[in-house]
Amino acid sequence: MSQPKSDNITWHAANLPHEERESLLGQKGCVVWFTGLSGSGKSTVARRVEELLLRAGKHAYVLDGDNLRSQHGLTSDLGFSPADRNENIRRAGCVAQLFADAGCIVLTAFISPYQADRDKARGLLPDGRFLEVHVATDLAVCEERDPKGLYKKARAGVIPEFTGVSAPYEAPEAPELVLDTAGKSIDEACQEVIDFLDAQGFLS
Ligand code: ADX
Repeated sequence: MSQPKSDNITWHAANLPHEERESLLGQKGCVVWFTGLSGSGKSTVARRVEELLLRAGKHAYVLDGDNLRSQHGLTSDLGFSPADRNENIRRAGCVAQLFADAGCIVLTAFISPYQADRDKARGLLPDGRFLEVHVATDLAVCEERDPKGLYKKARAGVIPEFTGVSAPYEAPEAPELVLDTAGKSIDEACQEVIDFLDAQGFLS
């Protein structure tokens, strides 16, 4: 973790204990960290899980790599070099940690290709509050889908350092869940995530 640049900084705690916050909210904050190749279905699954949870009266929110890079300024200064991806995931992890601390069920959709970066994000959360979900769609299937035409451009050499083509993807070593979106419907995959969250007690 990077050290604060300034001294004389004090952490201000909330007025009520964390357990009381969560009991008032009727849910437990956590981070569901979807990782996988571009086109694997991370955003689609995260968005549908968000919708299902909100419709069930739970507070959920998606943090999406494309969105944060393009619109919000949080990571729009970053590219796709290994160092920039490290920083992208570091910032995303910090934001996810804050949302989870607020009691939200955070659904992240970043390629997050490096295990060490995902482990650092995990390390920001209390034990058991970070659920790594590998959206394990094969490269061939992602490339066949190519929803944004990026694989085609990457193969043509137009996009450098493209994950799965000219940049690495390290599959999770010990994910809490593995989803295969090629073998099942989006809703079946989403239900698996929701059942998992329910079984772990995050929805009550
Ligand atoms: S990460 O590697 O740093 O986690 P992130 O999830 O934020 O990546 O962004 C990935 C998205 O950026 C992809 O879905 C794709 O739309 C777009 N993109 C543009 N260039 C690249 C690239 N070189 N490698 C991977 N994705 C890229």
